Amino acid sequence: MTRILILYGTTDGHTAKIARRLGDTLRARGADSDVVNVAHATPRLAGYDGVIVAASVHTGTYQPEVRQWVRTHAPALADMPGAFISVCLGALQHEPEVQQEVAATIRRFLASVDWEPTITKAVAGAVLYSRYGWLKRWLMRRIVAKAGGDTDTSRDYEYTDWADLDRFAEGFADLVARRLAEAGGYAQPA
Ligand SMILES: Cc1cc2nc3c(=O)[nH]c(=O)nc-3n(C[C@H](O)[C@H](O)[C@H](O)COP(=O)(O)O)c2cc1C
Repeated sequence: MTRILILYGTTDGHTAKIARRLGDTLRARGADSDVVNVAHATPRLAGYDGVIVAASVHTGTYQPEVRQWVRTHAPALADMPGAFISVCLGALQHEPEVQQEVAATIRRFLASVDWEPTITKAVAGAVLYSRYGWLKRWLMRRIVAKAGGDTDTSRDYEYTDWADLDRFAEGFADLVARRLAEAGGYAQPA
C-alpha cells in the first residue's frame, strides 16, 4: 500500500474540507493517507511515497506556515511525486488575465520555495461570509461584487467541484502507486 501525506494550510477552513475529501478519496483508492494541518504539526516526509500540499490564496499569497514547511522539506520533496493545490476564487473566472494571475500566483510561490511538483492544480474555494468579521465580510462582498459573484452575506457559497477533485485524487493515487512499482515497491494501481 502506498502512503500519501496531505499537508494543508487554511485561513477560513475551506481548504481543511478539501484536504479531508482528498484523504477520503485516496483511502478509497487504496492509499494510506494522513491529513495534516501545518498550523498544528510539521510532519517529516520519511515513510511517505507521495505528498499533496494544499493552501489557499489570500490577497495573492499563501499561508506562511505552508511556505516554511515546503522550503524546509524541498530536498525530500524533489525525490517524490508531489502535487500542489492552490485554493482560490480566481479559478472560477475564465477571463485570460485572471487565469494568468492564478498561474502566476502558483509560479511565484513554487519559485520562492524551490519546489517543482509533479502536478499543480487550481481549485475553486468558497466565500464563507458567516465566518468573517464585519470588516472582512464587507471587503469580501465588495471584491466579489466587482467580479460579478454572490453577494448575499446571509449565507455561504462553496464553489469547489468535488467530482473533479475526486478524479484528481484518484489520478494522483494511481501515479504514486505506479512510481512505487517502477521503483521496485509492491503497490499496483487500483
Ligand atoms: C481576505 C481574503 C482575500 C482573498 N484573496 C484572494 C485572492 O487574492 N485571490 C483569489 O483567487 N482568492 C482570494 N480569496 C478567496 C480565497 O482563496 C477562498 O475564499 C478560499 O476558499 C479560502 O480558503 P480557506 O477557507 O482554506 O482559507 C480571498 C479570500 C479572503 C477572505
